[in-house]
Amino acid sequence: MGIISKDIGIDLGTSNIRIHIKGRGIVVEEPAVVAINKVTGEVLAVGNQAKEMLGRTPDTIIALKPLKDGVIADFGSTRALIQNLISRVIQKSLFYKPRIVVSIPSKITDVEERAVEGVVYKSGAKEVYLMEEVMAAAIGSGIKVEKPEGTMIIDLGGGTSEVAVLSLGGIVVSNAIKVGGEKLDKDIIEYIRRKFSVIIGEGEAEEVKIQIGAATSAMTEDKMNVKGRNLITGLPETITVTTQDINEAMKDSLFEILRMIKQTLEQTPPELGCDIMERGITLSGGLSMLKNIDRFINEQTGIPVFIADEPEKAVIRGVAMALDNIEMLRKSTKTRK
Ligand SMILES: Nc1ncnc2c1ncn2[C@@H]1O[C@H](COP(=O)(O)OP(=O)(O)OP(=O)(O)O)[C@@H](O)[C@H]1O
Ligand SMILES: [Mg+2]
Repeated sequence: MGIISKDIGIDLGTSNIRIHIKGRGIVVEEPAVVAINKVTGEVLAVGNQAKEMLGRTPDTIIALKPLKDGVIADFGSTRALIQNLISRVIQKSLFYKPRIVVSIPSKITDVEERAVEGVVYKSGAKEVYLMEEVMAAAIGSGIKVEKPEGTMIIDLGGGTSEVAVLSLGGIVVSNAIKVGGEKLDKDIIEYIRRKFSVIIGEGEAEEVKIQIGAATSAMTEDKMNVKGRNLITGLPETITVTTQDINEAMKDSLFEILRMIKQTLEQTPPELGCDIMERGITLSGGLSMLKNIDRFINEQTGIPVFIADEPEKAVIRGVAMALDNIEMLRKSTKTRK
């Protein structure tokens, strides 16, 4: 543990929070979950520990997700989450406060943006810098954003899916929808409830999506057993679901993501559109690991699709790279300290 704190990068995601410390790399990667004692308000656990409590807490404990759709839903617990995770990796110092770069969705309101700044200041930052998530995702995916040619990045996260066309270091067109991996989990829960009259938990739904889910009804037909509770008898029950079931469950949401991509292509100036046709689309974010999602987008748009290396870490890698040029980022106004 160094006494001298270094500049810090944070990817404050709906599902996961990732923290990078300059010179040390990614030091935190944990679910964005906080467990709180409802009576006293005390924070009992954050991250992995808190996620394990989700859905199996007694009445007095609530495990909550402080971020929703990429924005802060609960200020106090977001602060507790950041502070707790930072304190695990950095020694608190009376004399030194780090500069912190935090990624933000490109389509958030001023109020939502100020909430992020405020929470990061309160977590102990000396200065807060904001960086657009899609830009971070592109840089972290290895795209040379400053070139005079169009590239398209699609960041598929837990709460949101964002798409941007970049050229000459700037965002030319961008769109975002509140459909990400967590919406797919909900779709799966709903589908299984309707088809089998069995209710399953969010954790199980996510597991099913990761294990056997696919964006196109694949030739490979996988099966999986899932435990839930029968709605009629009230008793625990194990059912078998197939890739086809899961594909059917997720279909509408996947087509919503596709609509956003097509709409963005329509809004893209023709020259840049040609560049994208030629160079392809890059996918980042955890949901880009969904089986066949690249194939689905490729088949539906006719454009080549590539998945970034370790796509779930693209944003934090981009933020980390920006730490080296911190002065070039947008510094937040300090009035909101
Ligand atoms: N192998 C996989 N297959 C399908 N989905 C996956 C896989 N691995 C992770 N995911 C999903 O990716 C999502 C999390 O992605 P990520 O960590 O990029 O989100 P986030 O940055 O926290 O959210 P956002 O950027 O929307 O605020 C979760 O919904 C998770 O279930
Ligand atoms: Mg993200």
